[in-house]
Parts: sequence; structure tokens; C-alpha cells
Amino acid sequence: MTDTNIKQPTEQDVYILAIESSCDETAAAVVKNGREVLSNVISSQIAIHTLYGGVVPELASRKHIEKINQVIEEALKEAGVTLKDITAIAVTYGPGLVGALLVGVSAAKAISFATGIPLIGVHHIEGHISANYIENKELEPPFVCLVASGGHSHLVVVKDYGEYEIIGRTRDDAAGEAFDKVARAIGLGYPGGPKIDKLSKEGNPDAIHFPRAVIAENEYDFSFSGLKSAVLNYLNGCQMKGEEVNAADVAASFQKAVIDVLVDHSVHAVKEYKFDKFAIAGGVASNSSLRNALAEECKKKGIDFYHPSPIYCTDNAAMIGVAGYYEYLKGVRDGYDLNAVPNLKLGER
Ligand code: KG4
Ligand code: ZN
Repeated sequence: MTDTNIKQPTEQDVYILAIESSCDETAAAVVKNGREVLSNVISSQIAIHTLYGGVVPELASRKHIEKINQVIEEALKEAGVTLKDITAIAVTYGPGLVGALLVGVSAAKAISFATGIPLIGVHHIEGHISANYIENKELEPPFVCLVASGGHSHLVVVKDYGEYEIIGRTRDDAAGEAFDKVARAIGLGYPGGPKIDKLSKEGNPDAIHFPRAVIAENEYDFSFSGLKSAVLNYLNGCQMKGEEVNAADVAASFQKAVIDVLVDHSVHAVKEYKFDKFAIAGGVASNSSLRNALAEECKKKGIDFYHPSPIYCTDNAAMIGVAGYYEYLKGVRDGYDLNAVPNLKLGER
């Protein structure tokens, strides 16, 4: 439930307590006036999920429950504030794993109910995009943003704060999902992205030619499942022929195939839509080769390139606090009927 008939904030400072638990990080942060991160506490569950080769939803929910109160307390303490200083509580309510989301949403509602502090539900992808505002104080919409994470690969026109148009999306696997699946196939384990990023530095990106999918109906859409299958076929072929696999070459060649498509679509979109600003977001945005390739291409084309530090690319609550701040300014408030929405669409409430 959204009430937009609320007074605009006065000149006073706005402190947002933000909570994020959509996947496998239990996170809380305090953000001042939208762009100043006073604390950013992240409790990662990677060690547990690594044992199973990927995120186990039931385990994720249980771990969130164990950690959430402690993480929120730490975020307040590190920021040097108490709940009395908090203007609003922002919480991720979708998309994500329903059991995981519910832990953050329930915690936020409980604090809001006990204290009367206003509650604001935030879209996880809006959070990822907003991470760009933290270290780029001059960045303002409109701009194009590539969101590449474990669950999403979107090309988004950020028209204004909280106003988005998705111009391209993946038809099958997300970019991060492809990184994770290929990493598992070459024995690197979970999460695959950072491991492929590292191993690729020792390999030849031109050693094996893997396909770059082109989607005829929409030039900005992505498809990564064919690429994933091509890598698996290559690995099977080597095994059948008794040939040794050079894992670094496979990692580097796969990564190059992903990067080529992401860079090509992004730069094309920025030019076609006549923008001069481009930003990246999501876990895959921390990939060092992707960042270098985009920086180089944007420089050539005269596009200003923005990216968050790696800690603000992967899941965190600071980004939710930033997005929550702009929702707060618009007067968005949620009631205690706020629920987890696992398939929440960007720009919808
Ligand atoms: O944004 P995120 O933390 O969670 C989701 O919202 O999905 O993204 C996680 C994804 C995982 O698939 C992970 O393998 C990928 O981001 N990732 C990377 C890198 N770091 C994380 N992919 C490529 N290179 C990296 N350095
Ligand atoms: Zn995420």
C-alpha cells in the first residue's frame, strides 16, 4: 500500500536504515541524505552455500533469521546513530527468494511498528542501479544502466529517480548465472564470477571461439544459455578425445564472449537513445575485464562511464538505502501489509 499524500521532508538531514536479505547476504546500512554511507554491514553466507555449489533457499532463510538482528544493530552502531535518529526504514521486498526476502521485510516491519518510523519497500534492482549514486556525487538521471547480476541482465533507461524503462533483458540465463554454471563445469565452485575473473587473467581470451548470441526481435536482449551449452560441449568433446582442458583458456574465452555482448549492446543503446552517460550495476559489474572493456569503449565513443566500487556492486544494503531515500523524497510510504514479492517488476509497486 502506498501513500503519496505525505509532506515533503524539511531541510533536516534524512537518515535511512536499510535492510537487504533477498539472496545470500544479510545486510544492513545507514545512509545519510541519500549519498553518504555511514555504515554498510554485510554478513555473507557464501561459506555455507559453497558446500552445495549454489544458494540453497531454505538454508539462506535460516541464516538470515540468525543474523538479521545482529547485522542491524552493528549497522546502527557503526554509523554512530540510534533508532531515534532514523527518518525511515528501507527494505528490499523483491525480487528474490521469497523466504529470504521475508526475513528482511519482517524485521523492517517489526522495527517500524515498534517505533513508528516510516517503512519503505525497495526494489532490489533499483537498489543496484542506485549504488552508482554513492561514489559519483555528480551523477543524475537520465542515463543508461546495464544491470548484470546472478538473477538479472537488463539494459535500463533511467529516466529519473525511480523511473525506469527496460529496453533489453535476457531471454534465458542471467550473465552471473552463466558465470556460476561455467565455473562449476570447470571445477571452480561457487560463486563462479570472481573465480572466473581471476583465472581468466592467466588464460588466452582468443584461444577458443564461443558464440555471441544475437536476438533478431530485439537487438538489446541477451541470451547466455547457448554460450553455456557451447562451453559444456567443448569440455565434453575434450573429455571424449582424451584431450587435456586448459581451464584458464576456457574461462578467459567464455568471459570474453560474455563481455563482448554486454559491451556491444550497452554502447549501442547509449548511442541509439542519444545519452552521454552510462552506468553499470550488479555483481557482474565488479568483473575487472568488463570494467576495463567498458571504460575503453566509452572513452572511444565520448560516453561518461560510471561504476560502483566492487563492494557496492554485489548485494549490500547501502544501495537499498540510497534507493529508499529517493522513494522517501517522492513521499512513498508502505503499510504493515508490505509483503515479499519474489518476481517484482522494476518500476512497479
Ligand atoms: O548482484 P549480486 O550480488 O546478486 C544478485 O542480485 O544476483 O550478483 C551475484 C552474481 C553471481 O552470479 C556472481 O558470480 C557474479 O554476480 N559476480 C561476478 C563477479 N563477482 C560477482 N561475475 C563476474 N565477475 C566478477 N568479478
Ligand atoms: Zn543483487
